[in-house]
Amino acid sequence: MSEILNLKSYPPVFRQQYIGIQQNSGLDDTTKQIQEVVNDDTIPVLDLQCLDLGKLQEACEDWGLFRLVNHGIPLTLMSQLRDHSRNLFSLTFESKQELFTNPLSYFWGTTALTPTGAALSIGPQNINWVEGLNIPLSQLSLFQKDNETLGSFRYSFPAFSLSCFRGFYVNFRDLHSSFTVQVGIITLVKSAYALFTLISLFFLLMLTPYCCFLRFTRALLEEYGRHLERLATTMFGAMAKNLHLDPELSKTYISESTGFVRVYRYPQCSMENEAWGIKVHTDSSVLSILNQDQVGGLQVLKDDNWLQVEPIPDTLVFNLGDMMQAISDDKYKSVKHRVKVNKEKERFSICYFVFPAEGSVIQSSKYRPFTYSDFQAQVQQDVKTLGFKVGLERFKVAG
Ligand SMILES: [Fe+2]
Repeated sequence: MSEILNLKSYPPVFRQQYIGIQQNSGLDDTTKQIQEVVNDDTIPVLDLQCLDLGKLQEACEDWGLFRLVNHGIPLTLMSQLRDHSRNLFSLTFESKQELFTNPLSYFWGTTALTPTGAALSIGPQNINWVEGLNIPLSQLSLFQKDNETLGSFRYSFPAFSLSCFRGFYVNFRDLHSSFTVQVGIITLVKSAYALFTLISLFFLLMLTPYCCFLRFTRALLEEYGRHLERLATTMFGAMAKNLHLDPELSKTYISESTGFVRVYRYPQCSMENEAWGIKVHTDSSVLSILNQDQVGGLQVLKDDNWLQVEPIPDTLVFNLGDMMQAISDDKYKSVKHRVKVNKEKERFSICYFVFPAEGSVIQSSKYRPFTYSDFQAQVQQDVKTLGFKVGLERFKVAG
């Protein structure tokens, strides 16, 4: 059964299918060739409470992907975040554009963003059926105080009404305590006082919940971010141990300050067999950690077969990115994956990506030395000029 659509919350490009305009869905030749999906979910499951390093090694080498259970993130926090994301995305498209600005960024139709979070322009044939919110965790503190638009929405009206209310109350009290004031004047002042109280209450009731709503968003993300940093550091530490990496060098290969969260909404889409939520890609990160709802749609490539990554409650999905593949001298896989759209339901997922420290040079026998910034600049250039990411091949040592 289809969900009731909140079309005003959809970017205009996604509304067209509901008003009878069938546009180019963005299906390319690559995706046409790989429609078959095997429903054999044998994805490795690791338990953080008794981490099996051998099993981790196998998962990284054979899959580039695994599930993690007993990860220590409170279940209520995970579900609260998903519910809250649903609320954020239910705002109108225009509100999201206005509110989710620096340090946040709001994007749709593509997941290719510049380092500042702006979406790279794409042609209509390359549309991904997704909208998202990019949240650099190290800049969460700016989320409330330095964003002028958010600041004006949150504070000006309540602050204004409170200060007027207080000023009026003081005047009224002084008037009331003066025995020389006529009774008629007191009645007039009381009426004005009641009217102003009502107006103040209106602004407080209308705007304070919004203020709380955003503050709650930040509090949830801060708590969630602390857990993700813990998990990324722990799991990368175990991988570095398995790979016998130099401890000093490997410290720079992952940096909490680079972590960001992306919240994705995949609008329901009637062109289920044509459009993609996100087309085939590899992540550029060291590690990516996914918290998905129960709708499903993620698929991974394993031994030339596409497999569904069925959602399992309270389980995180880890996938390795391009940086991890280079760090491991290609022993570990940056797994290819894609997201299918759903014609009946929207899908929400919250993904964390973490990268090497600024200036950290990746030393690998398979690639020439490069920093993540070098890699990112190359990806940006390729997306602009070719329309797609070439990735690690650009840094491969010849022979
Ligand atoms: Fe991805």
